[in-house]
Amino acid sequence: MDPTIADSQAGFPVVRPRRMRRTATLRRMVRETRISADQLILPMFAIGGAGREEPIPSMPGHARMSPDVLAVRAVRAYEAGVPAVLLFGVTDHKDEVGSQSCNPNGEVQQAVAAIKLLVPEMVVVTDVCLCEYTSHGQCGVVRDGDVDNDATLDLLARAALSHADAGADVVAPSDMMDGRVGAIRRTLDAHGHEGVAILSYAAKYASAFYGPFRDAAGSAPSFGDRRGYQMDPANGREALREVALDIREGADMVMVKPAAAYLDVIGDVRRMTTLPIAAYHVSGEFSMIKAAAERGWLDERTAALEILTAITRAGADLVITYYAEDAAGWLKETV
Ligand code: PBG
Repeated sequence: MDPTIADSQAGFPVVRPRRMRRTATLRRMVRETRISADQLILPMFAIGGAGREEPIPSMPGHARMSPDVLAVRAVRAYEAGVPAVLLFGVTDHKDEVGSQSCNPNGEVQQAVAAIKLLVPEMVVVTDVCLCEYTSHGQCGVVRDGDVDNDATLDLLARAALSHADAGADVVAPSDMMDGRVGAIRRTLDAHGHEGVAILSYAAKYASAFYGPFRDAAGSAPSFGDRRGYQMDPANGREALREVALDIREGADMVMVKPAAAYLDVIGDVRRMTTLPIAAYHVSGEFSMIKAAAERGWLDERTAALEILTAITRAGADLVITYYAEDAAGWLKETV
């Protein structure tokens, strides 16, 4: 018999689950899911220049920063207990093929180096995609009005290589082209970067919750949408296939994105792989809580920690979240 059924066989009034919820200390002892700052990854946006910080209106508390300012902010996050950052580049240097994505002196590459100089222990993850660098804002090369999968792979691999050369510990392809994990792995290995890990955005959905991010990164597509490569939010089984393919191509960790609206997908992926799973609590999921909290409709801290706990309970090992620094602070105070 299912042990949970055996446990409850006596039934009410002999069984009273409320007994174990009577005091804060008891609740703390029987808590099934514990979240820790060690799981958190803070996304950050790098721009060029020096001494620059541009707040992002739709993401309160977050800003686009030049590498020098960003590195200092990364130190602050590390000291608060956040072990890792995920870097995005924001640039004015855009062209049809996103050449700036592999510029050794590009925004992300400089930010990686600046962080590594100040806090070499911090794990630096870089987002690998072309949408922030292409004039049309699509995540790959466009041919005949469509994103050309195979022609994009080499550009992604070159971008990933430039991040590894700059000192990144982990590269995270978010483009959703087929075969990109394998292409990146081969390129990294061929250039002596066997030690650089790949966190693949394996199950990335075509989500409305990326809205604030596209403002922040200036990466909204100028035509069409991303449904030709990102997954349909209606599909759960397909996520398992995407994850299996990325694992076979050499992914070291797999991601589900967004997180809060996709807890079932996180749970399903948890049951099919032993690899670490990251879940991305995306910009819209963050801004939604912020906006409600600003109106006094939600208690921000409780709501944010509840969501991070739920994502962990669903099966995520790591959570990428704009709340990383705040949450690390809250977790120190919470008993
Ligand atoms: C790049 C990328 C996006 C996000 C992460 N990497 C945007 C998109 O796919 O449109 C979204 C992150 C967020 O919303 O916080 N492809």
